Amino acid sequence: MENNFIPRYDAVKFNFSDEEKIILEELRENLIDLAVSQDSSSFNENLILMDIARFLKNRLHDKSLSGEYIDQLARNMLQELIGYGEMSFLINDDDLEEIMVIGVGKPVFVYHRRHGMMETDLIFDSEDAIISIINSIARNVNRRIDQQSPILDARLSDGSRVNATIPPLSADGPTITIRKFKKDPLTIIDLIRFNTLNSEIASFLWLCVDGLGVKPANIIVSGGTSSGKTTLLNALSIFINPKERIISVEDTLELQIPHKHLIRMEARSVNIENEGEITIQDLVKNSLRQRPDRIIVGEVRGSEAITLFNALNTGHSGFGTLHANSSRETITRLTNAPMSVPKIMISSIDFIIMEKRIYKSNGRSIRRITEIAEVAGVEEGTIQLNKLFQWDSETDSFENLTIVSKTLAEIANLRGVSINALNKEWEMRKLILDSLVENNISKQDNLSKILEEYYLNPKVLLSKINP
Ligand SMILES: Nc1ncnc2c1ncn2[C@@H]1O[C@H](COP(=O)(O)OP(=O)(O)OP(=O)(O)O)[C@@H](O)[C@H]1O
Ligand SMILES: [Mg+2]
Repeated sequence: MENNFIPRYDAVKFNFSDEEKIILEELRENLIDLAVSQDSSSFNENLILMDIARFLKNRLHDKSLSGEYIDQLARNMLQELIGYGEMSFLINDDDLEEIMVIGVGKPVFVYHRRHGMMETDLIFDSEDAIISIINSIARNVNRRIDQQSPILDARLSDGSRVNATIPPLSADGPTITIRKFKKDPLTIIDLIRFNTLNSEIASFLWLCVDGLGVKPANIIVSGGTSSGKTTLLNALSIFINPKERIISVEDTLELQIPHKHLIRMEARSVNIENEGEITIQDLVKNSLRQRPDRIIVGEVRGSEAITLFNALNTGHSGFGTLHANSSRETITRLTNAPMSVPKIMISSIDFIIMEKRIYKSNGRSIRRITEIAEVAGVEEGTIQLNKLFQWDSETDSFENLTIVSKTLAEIANLRGVSINALNKEWEMRKLILDSLVENNISKQDNLSKILEEYYLNPKVLLSKINP
């Protein structure tokens, strides 16, 4: 019976004939010779394509095939031979969020940004076919997958994250899970358009992240797997004042922060000889010697938490994501092993932003900031949380509960202005974001320019927007 529930994705763009399949295998064996015969150390795709086309013309029985067909065939064969073979097409589709190979003889699934979960017509019929893709991914990052280390965590050259497993760990054959890297990151304007948050919250966060230069906020974005934490952190980074010196520390480089003054650090796992590991903790420690204004830790989960909180308690500002399901749980996880941050240090966080991925019955999902809690302080050993914003699932809208925000009060105090003046600033920034949403200005580069303009001369920018 046709299963209509999961939409189909057409991944197999080309079916080789039996004769073509045999030639393809011959080519696979000859590819190395071909590359060598070019007499150059670098791989020249065009020359190889010409070689393959020539080979095809000689070998194919049907001499009446057009040059165009043969050129296309050569391109398809090269795709098969190098890189990720039949997966290349999926890997190149920027509309896919995730690609999932779940074993032998089973369809490859994809998660599409607009259509949700989809089943493709791509099915691997042997373990070897999948393992050969895993091996080429592993080779690129100088790692290997075998019975001794049957799990691979790696990154493709385009930045996508990959996890792979082989039997007997995965009972139905080797698996590959690819979290696609979006070349054009989602920005705060995109997130407002998706209703992940509204412009009132976004402008509040803008005000607090830059803190009018006197108190840049420390923020933890918290949520479940794939709830959009890294994306939100990235989107908020655009609000960091361009004057700040930023150092980011990540397991695998995911953040795409537009600022010029940025040092990106990436942790390193052990190499094939089991040596050379540099942990997140090593990098956070080192970042302190680099005298940053702001430290961004992609994902906080281990002993680096204490180092980070030490930094926050000594005048640096910081951002990070953390895996937890509520603001309370975020605190619990931070204060218990393996992070073990002393409670007294927790009050250096200004906000915990909770994000959730909510699955709909049609197989799609939405992402919402469900709560923003302000860390108000520690009273009798208990950390006090103050809810500032809250999402209402029934109306899919956000409630503003910020009658008293400690952070706003502090900014006002340090800057010597009234809360009223701050509220006006908040309102002004909301107008700007609204106008950007309305005019569909959402590309990161454009936004950075507009924000820089705002910092230089808010009045000029406002008069442009609201003549
Ligand atoms: N608000 C959003 N609306 C729509 N898509 C989003 C949103 N936020 C993130 N995404 C998409 O969802 C995917 C996962 O996002 P992201 O990596 O930010 O999640 P995460 O919570 O950091 O995941 P992990 O738990 O693996 O660290 C990405 O493909 C991203 O483009
Ligand atoms: Mg993440």
